[in-house]
Amino acid sequence: MSRCLQGKHILLGLTGGIACYKSAELVRLLVREGADVHVLMTPAAQQFLTPLTLQSLSGNSVATDLFSLSEELHVGHIRLADLADAYLIAPATADVVAKLAHGNADDVVTTVALATRAPLLVAPSMNVNMYEHPAVQENLERLARRGVRVIPAAEGELACGWHGKGRLAEPPVLLAEVERAVTPPVFAGERIVVTAGPTREFLDPVRFLTNRSSGKMGFALAAAAWRRGAEVMLVSGPVSLPTPHGVARRNVVSAAEMYEAVADEFSRATMLVMCAAVADYRPAVCQPTKVKKQSKGWTLELQPTIDILASLKPQKGNRFVVGFAAETDQVEEFGREKLERKGLDLVVANDVSRPEAGMEADMNAAILLDRFGGRIELPLMNKADLAEAILDRIAELRQRTA
Ligand code: C5P
Repeated sequence: MSRCLQGKHILLGLTGGIACYKSAELVRLLVREGADVHVLMTPAAQQFLTPLTLQSLSGNSVATDLFSLSEELHVGHIRLADLADAYLIAPATADVVAKLAHGNADDVVTTVALATRAPLLVAPSMNVNMYEHPAVQENLERLARRGVRVIPAAEGELACGWHGKGRLAEPPVLLAEVERAVTPPVFAGERIVVTAGPTREFLDPVRFLTNRSSGKMGFALAAAAWRRGAEVMLVSGPVSLPTPHGVARRNVVSAAEMYEAVADEFSRATMLVMCAAVADYRPAVCQPTKVKKQSKGWTLELQPTIDILASLKPQKGNRFVVGFAAETDQVEEFGREKLERKGLDLVVANDVSRPEAGMEADMNAAILLDRFGGRIELPLMNKADLAEAILDRIAELRQRTA
């Protein structure tokens, strides 16, 4: 949980499409994240869902009418516009997209879109032929040029029976977009490579050496960096986590593959956050066929893998580079040693011998050591919160290095 929505005033405009039912789910998600949600509905949207449903879910009265004596007395559409931290229109029909593109304001949803200074997000939803119509595409492009965040429709089965682009983006995607809209874009212009998960070093086609890393910490960092405005490339070892919305991903298996991918991305990156638990050793040989069970033992010869961070040190330039130090003893001493040897700006040192924290767990604690001599101790917290705290520190230190 990012907590970025706590206490934020989010306006959600519904227009006349069957996807209004997804917006009801979105209201629940927004409320669960601590947002104060105000729903606005066009007359057509009220054909699909009743204002009472959305009032019950949001806990606030629903704006349906510009000229209602009671609604205008209660909140007022200009007050709503002023109150907003972000305004999302979802679903946005072709008609409403056209009105927004041209600045029409003949209902409460479009009027508030003109009246607010808050970031405006528009999530279109319609039949595929309508969505692909040049008139609709031109209107969406016009909105995007004006700084409106257009959340593209997804592809799939459409309620009208067609298959194609036109489905309203799913509620978790809309939630992530709203979270990003209310988060200060401190990493705008940064291209951040985040690595995550374990690597696998094969002994034969079916057996490998690996470690307990789940990828949770790296995925949380990637999601949080995107929310703060960065372009994010996640280089992930084998994990079973979904790619966070907005983040690009490259999958790798071995330490050698991770090196190839990171070295390739590094040339275009402005920051590297090396959170992956890369294997330090791999079998000297990988047998081409499965090794048969034998009564005698099997002695493995291991050789070191390439140290990705250390090998990129000469090309570092003014990139901001973060390493992780997972230790079971002398956490801080080993963390400091890595900071020096790998030429890092920041080390996130953590004690992975604690049963409640570290690898696989949902929680972690860490000590942040930086090259300016700073030391910050972060107590046990969930990995999403830890990701935010680490990025807060990176943003502070970045100002000294950029
Ligand atoms: O040396 P050690 O493996 O303990 O260092 C951990 C840090 O170095 C992590 O940031 C990890 O991603 C990175 N690492 C690396 N290449 C390796 C092994 C670890 O870049 N082969």
